[in-house]
Amino acid sequence: MRIFNFFTQDIAIDLGTANTLIIQDGKIVVDEPSIIAINRRTGETIAVGTKAMQMHEKTHENIKTIRPLKDGVIADFQAAESMIEGLINMAVKRKKFFTHLKMVICIPSGITEVEKRAVFDSADHVDSKETYLIHEPMAAALGIGLDVEEPIGNMIIDIGGGTTEIAVIALSGIVCDQSIRTAGDEFTADIMNFMKRQHNILIGERTAEQIKIHVGSALSELENPPEEFAVNGRDLMTGIPKQITIGYAEIAHALDKSISKIEDAILKALETTPPELASDIYKTGLYLTGGGALLRGLDKRIAQKTKLPVHIAEDPLRAVVRGTGIALQNSHKFTFLIDRKSV
Ligand SMILES: Nc1ncnc2c1ncn2[C@@H]1O[C@H](COP(=O)(O)OP(=O)(O)OP(=O)(O)O)[C@@H](O)[C@H]1O
Ligand SMILES: [Mg+2]
Repeated sequence: MRIFNFFTQDIAIDLGTANTLIIQDGKIVVDEPSIIAINRRTGETIAVGTKAMQMHEKTHENIKTIRPLKDGVIADFQAAESMIEGLINMAVKRKKFFTHLKMVICIPSGITEVEKRAVFDSADHVDSKETYLIHEPMAAALGIGLDVEEPIGNMIIDIGGGTTEIAVIALSGIVCDQSIRTAGDEFTADIMNFMKRQHNILIGERTAEQIKIHVGSALSELENPPEEFAVNGRDLMTGIPKQITIGYAEIAHALDKSISKIEDAILKALETTPPELASDIYKTGLYLTGGGALLRGLDKRIAQKTKLPVHIAEDPLRAVVRGTGIALQNSHKFTFLIDRKSV
């Protein structure tokens, strides 16, 4: 127990390609899109999170919006640091010289040593005195409520914005994993391309994201189909704004190839699973998490492909940050946390 609790601040961060979430004292205090708006001339931060997202694709020559993470890893270090700092400041009112900041940050399992060091450097920049990293599938498993220390295999499939991570977890470790850079962002890009090719209409990333959420589907036939969705964009022929309506079957067609890539990765992960753990997974099934788990019909499609039961995690967008929070509370005993010395 810490006597000087007043001077310590423990936070858990899920630094995602699409969303960054922060937990403090068991409560989610930040849940914002991973984006920053900067002044192009001075480099100053203008806004982070939702406010920056409102400016995205609507900027002029003085303002630039940046999504610092791409494919699950930091693509723009400076922007990432400014964004992390902005988001942490949103959560905690720090008294810089007195506070001992301790952080657990979640990272994709396919991350390189150089990329890990970059995350540690970002943490140093915001004055973290004690930093640990945790692999995303492990955090997801904890967040779902699985007992990761048991000698029982569980398969987690985390479909985020940048990466899909498939991992088998047992005895506090990742036994085998597959990480592919096909996830929500790729679905969004598929939708933009489809609209251009099929309907001669140009749409932005945010509109494509809305289409995905309103009429996104992994199957061309759904039991509970969503209503058609009105889409505004620019007609490629006339250059004039135009509106069309889109149904879910069309989007299932647009997403088919990317979903097949995810299915292939799942099959590969199952093939490389040691037989005793495979037998556990046959009984326990597969756990879907991350925002991609919300895509209509995806659970059913994966279940049909693998002939295994598929469970969608409760609140899939927050499972990882909750798990990272659990890791923070158990940082003294969880051996799978990564500290600065080990990279
Ligand atoms: N209802 C929905 N249907 C389909 N996709 C959705 C839905 N809600 C959110 N998403 C998608 O989920 C993705 C974000 O998920 P999540 O927050 O788990 O990603 P992330 O953790 O930021 O990314 P990563 O783990 O790859 O770094 C986005 O691509 C978003 O469009
Ligand atoms: Mg994630």
